[in-house]
Amino acid sequence: MKVRHIVSAANFDRQFISEIFNSATKVKKSPNDYKEKLTGKIMATLFYEPSTRTRLSFESAMLRLGGDVISTENASEFSSAAKGETLEDTIRVVNKYSDVIVLRHFTEGASKIASSYSDVPIINAGDGKGEHPTQALLDLFTIFSKFSTNKSGKQQLTVSMIGDLKNGRTIHSLAQLFSLYDNFKLIFVSPRVLAIPQSLRSSLIQKNVKFEETEDLNSALKSSDVIYQTRIQKERFKSNRSGESEYIKYLGRYIIDKKTLKIAKDSSIIMHPLPRVNEIKPEVDSDKRAVYFEQVENGIYVRMALLLYLFDKAY
Ligand code: NCD
Repeated sequence: MKVRHIVSAANFDRQFISEIFNSATKVKKSPNDYKEKLTGKIMATLFYEPSTRTRLSFESAMLRLGGDVISTENASEFSSAAKGETLEDTIRVVNKYSDVIVLRHFTEGASKIASSYSDVPIINAGDGKGEHPTQALLDLFTIFSKFSTNKSGKQQLTVSMIGDLKNGRTIHSLAQLFSLYDNFKLIFVSPRVLAIPQSLRSSLIQKNVKFEETEDLNSALKSSDVIYQTRIQKERFKSNRSGESEYIKYLGRYIIDKKTLKIAKDSSIIMHPLPRVNEIKPEVDSDKRAVYFEQVENGIYVRMALLLYLFDKAY
């Protein structure tokens, strides 16, 4: 069945993912073939939380397809939300101006609500501590592109996901994508209080996903093929002194640096959705295993593929 809104990774299946990835691969190979595909279409980007990559990546994807973009980058302050307008009303109004809406909101579940008021596709570009499904797609696309060459068929891959797993929405979406395949083993590395949410844990158990949870980064690194580092989500801690000191406590806990590179497998890859604060040292950037800037590039192709899909223009 056609996915109409891109709201949660839980709505994706393997067939949808493979369709998007095939299309993204074609777009990557010859982007010029697609430069007029969405001429006349308008994308609205409505961002109530900060973003550099996701908003610009979507806008760039739309422009590369010949479409146009209208945007409010600080919707909490510069849109009518500041005057008390509800999200529902905003979505109804923006429906009249655009053919697709990319929404980043501080409330978990906001995109789902928006989709129930929208005739045009809603793309969830991050809903609070909830999900970030398009980031998960580009992450998985990057992983498949790095490990697909194995001649002996499907390779068993161990993935370590590190950091603020409680508040990190990229983790919540990506873990759900892994659960669709049987060749991933997941290791969640975090301080106990920042462990994955219970709802995600239950869903992984129910789907028989092989996973473990630990506080020990070094032991996880030794067996990992994919090292997925994340930021401690400062904005999700209480904005008072106790929140600040709690944040500082976890900030330096898990760092990828030259020393950790010695422990990690030579064939592994190191990923990060970015922005990074201090959790991957710049000295790692020149290592061949560091692929976080490749993720950024793949994000464009995957988002172009998603837009083509939503407008029935993929082939
Ligand atoms: C992530 C996000 O906003 O959730 N960034 C992104 O979109 N690439 C990760 C983060 O903010 O830590």
